[in-house]
Amino acid sequence: MKKFIKNLPKAELHLHIEGSFEPAQMFEIAQRNKIEIPYKSVEEIEKAYQFDCLQDFLDIYYQGASVLITEQDFYDLTYSYLKKCANQNVRHTEIMFDPQTHTERGISFETVIKGISKACNDAEKQLGVTSLLIMSYLRHLSEEDAFKTLEQSLDYKHLITAVGLDSSERGNPPSKFKNVFDASVKEGYIPLAHAGEEGDADYVWEALDILKIKRIDHGNNSLQDPILIQEIINRDIALTVCPLSNTSLQVVKNLKDHPLKKMMELGLKVTINSDDPAYFGGQVNQNYIEIQKALNLTKEDLYELAKNSFQYALIDEKTKQKYLKELNIFYEQNKN
Ligand code: ADE
Ligand code: ZN
Repeated sequence: MKKFIKNLPKAELHLHIEGSFEPAQMFEIAQRNKIEIPYKSVEEIEKAYQFDCLQDFLDIYYQGASVLITEQDFYDLTYSYLKKCANQNVRHTEIMFDPQTHTERGISFETVIKGISKACNDAEKQLGVTSLLIMSYLRHLSEEDAFKTLEQSLDYKHLITAVGLDSSERGNPPSKFKNVFDASVKEGYIPLAHAGEEGDADYVWEALDILKIKRIDHGNNSLQDPILIQEIINRDIALTVCPLSNTSLQVVKNLKDHPLKKMMELGLKVTINSDDPAYFGGQVNQNYIEIQKALNLTKEDLYELAKNSFQYALIDEKTKQKYLKELNIFYEQNKN
């Protein structure tokens, strides 16, 4: 199974670039930029990665991101992640970045987007991995602040495909961002959002009805509401599920209790993703490996999950068909 998963062509649709920041690289960039971090070694950083909930994690995640200063830092971070994609046969990835995490600290939007997008361009040429960018608004900040970010992004609109909504979910419902999402869609960005990770099903309803999102990040708590489940299926909207994130943040107690298989049986379109791989114990393939073992998924299930990852990617039809064909050939040759 491990070999099947390793070679399975797939896309990753839920990945925070700041969450791909491995301790060793964080340490190196902190030293390069002469920034003090509260850890003396890579091992100390790793030890700090124990979380009881989303907020515990976010506190450490924002602290880690604060060592990123130059365009080269953003380039190195992104290129390292894309190299891992190539090693896992991730053929395409949709990378979320949080501009406000950096602009709040005085780093310019330009520095962030140029570093990330240059790495994406180079990786496509050098590694054959395609990617696109999702600019994510931080929901613990105000809508006014998100509007500033939208404004800053406009000179780089050609580099950004979609907008997302992340950070502390409880107490920050999607409706708080209605106006900035409307404005973002007018600018041509596709609306996406985290919903139903810690927030209840009503947050998923708001994300669908008020923000008009085209894909749901996480969406676990949609299962609280059978009418919502049917609505998600009717609208043909996929969920970007992140198994190891869910256990790390205690959204799900144990992988054996993970609702992924149930979601698939209900007819929901599910994909497997890593979310913040440096913090949650594994890249996307590790998520496939561990959830396969916990839920006894078949090769056909894994094929279905990989198929969804291309089907619900925000790529043009021709590229989509190219990847689906590659996947189908692989599956036909390896399904027995
Ligand atoms: N930012 C990075 N990872 C996140 C997650 N899992 N939920 C909300 N915001 C995040
Ligand atoms: Zn996420």
